[in-house]
Amino acid sequence: MAFDVHASICHIMKFKEIRKKYLDFFKGKKHAIIPSASLIPENDPSTLFIGSGMQPLVLYLLGEKHPAGKRLVNSQKCFRAEDIAEVGDSRHTTFFEMLGNWSLGDYFKKEQLRWFFEFLTDRLGLDVNRLYVTVFKGNSDIGITRDEESVAIWRELFKEKGINAKDIDFSENQGLVGSRIFYYDEKKNWWSRSGVPLNMPVGEPGGPDSEIFYDLGADLKRHENSPFCGQPCHINCDCGRFIEIGNSVFMEYVKTESGFEKLKQRNVDFGGGLERLAMVSQGKSNIFETDLFSSAISGLENLSGGKKYQDNGKPFEVIIDHLRGAVFIMADNKGICPSNTEQGYVVRRLIRRAIRYGRELGIKKDLWTKEIAEIIIKDYRDDYPDLENNKNFVESQLQEEEKKFQRALGNGLKEFNKIKIAGNISGRQAFDLYQTRGFPFEITEELAKENGLKVDKIGFEEELKKHQELSRSTIAGKFKSGLADASEETTKFHTATHILLAALREVLGGSVFQKGSNITAERLRLDFSYPEKLSSEQIEKVQAVANKIIQDDLPVSFEEMGLEKAKKQGAMGVFETRYGEKVRVYTIGKGKNIFSEEICAGPHVKRTGELGKIKIIKEESSSARTRRIKAIFAS
Ligand code: SER
Repeated sequence: MAFDVHASICHIMKFKEIRKKYLDFFKGKKHAIIPSASLIPENDPSTLFIGSGMQPLVLYLLGEKHPAGKRLVNSQKCFRAEDIAEVGDSRHTTFFEMLGNWSLGDYFKKEQLRWFFEFLTDRLGLDVNRLYVTVFKGNSDIGITRDEESVAIWRELFKEKGINAKDIDFSENQGLVGSRIFYYDEKKNWWSRSGVPLNMPVGEPGGPDSEIFYDLGADLKRHENSPFCGQPCHINCDCGRFIEIGNSVFMEYVKTESGFEKLKQRNVDFGGGLERLAMVSQGKSNIFETDLFSSAISGLENLSGGKKYQDNGKPFEVIIDHLRGAVFIMADNKGICPSNTEQGYVVRRLIRRAIRYGRELGIKKDLWTKEIAEIIIKDYRDDYPDLENNKNFVESQLQEEEKKFQRALGNGLKEFNKIKIAGNISGRQAFDLYQTRGFPFEITEELAKENGLKVDKIGFEEELKKHQELSRSTIAGKFKSGLADASEETTKFHTATHILLAALREVLGGSVFQKGSNITAERLRLDFSYPEKLSSEQIEKVQAVANKIIQDDLPVSFEEMGLEKAKKQGAMGVFETRYGEKVRVYTIGKGKNIFSEEICAGPHVKRTGELGKIKIIKEESSSARTRRIKAIFAS
């Protein structure tokens, strides 16, 4: 096989080396290395998790000045819950690291395409003959032209490597027709958080993109077995032959009421999945065959009494992917643990699904997920110290959840035994078992089989679809209600959050720290450390302190400084930044009358008097030793 040749000639680069090489490469091009933001979005209600590198940087793409400069590079932790069902196909994972380089109104297409191409060919040593690219074909309805500029750059880059790269408009059933550069429409070559131009809310940034694909070879076994086999190949199809390894988004537009406008600045948002880059660089056609997963796979082979990954692809991939995702989410310093709502629900689903596939592998041991978690933590702890710091929390949560799931299975079993008396299991019944008892469909199916009964799978899927559509529209509703943009209301809530935190500290004491925050156009939400329920008297006091600050109309200002200095002068904030990096410190008040100092990206109002009267509308528990308040501006 071609890949063995590749492997024997080249030094096999480990995934950690690839990450480092990428960061160093762009550091050499004057980029500041910035740390990954948390997986849980701050002040961005549009999604439960950070799903792309650009999400934590939206403000800067829209024009705020980033303290580290105009050229940034990072590896961002990402999680895409929508890919849960895809896991098991050898190329999808829910959690992944997105390597990203960023131009905030600095360089553009020429530099970006050249640099990434150089990184792939000269630094990773990928075979240029296996690289294919796509570009945006333009759309006159939205007034955005065909990206001939990128095509000219690509042709030149390929030419320098001795390849005459022809370009062509993609068309169905046509195949590759000897081309290397393909024009696609906005369904494939446009990027924004909300997808195609039509779906973008006003104020959302986006732009055409250019993707790069790697050809795993027409002889790929997976390709032969694919349902697409026999159809002419195109690089964006799902047959498995081609895999996307990087996407350069030319983010220079913003959606307006009437169409699109140019942003204040031309940005580059590049994203490339570290797992996929490791895969192609290591000459593999399966992400799970890279060095990244090898110790977890051995661990699982031992646990399952010697079952081999090669013979049990899907269960191995699901278990390792899901536990890795759950570990990263729970270790993210936000105290997320399995529950029935929001992020916690996703964590619960991940763990339970992993356990259920563990049953399929015949794992006999109780409370085994912790053992895989330990391996994952060991693999990543040097680069993500939070995993080690929160190891005890993560492992105890896993154990708790395993116990709960065992109990749920027991109860579900009782329920199942009642239902089965009446004969076959309807779709609705299977769905109820799933929804209210946490009983995975596959288990219902297994049990039914043992009892010689049938389950209405189609009926179950219909029920599930109905349910998903409902939750999707809730998510879409959330999306509409306010993005992390600089809109007036969210800016006001942002400042109000600082005021409330300081007021809480004044009333409840210095052990209060912010644990999380989430802002929509309608309300703010603030989680903070405190061991018990607040009395109504305390709530009144906090409100009074906060509203006095608003009444006093104090100035809000910021200063950029090194993190060490910010810490020294007592600024509050999440210290995710590495030593030497610049941060912004927002101050409310002046001189002797300073009320709050927080490390924060902004934006904020100029004076507290711009805010309405703050009203706390809810106080509740968020997780152990953490309280949550919601507040609005009273009219
Ligand atoms: N935002 C783009 C993506 O997620 C590139 O980083 O693909």
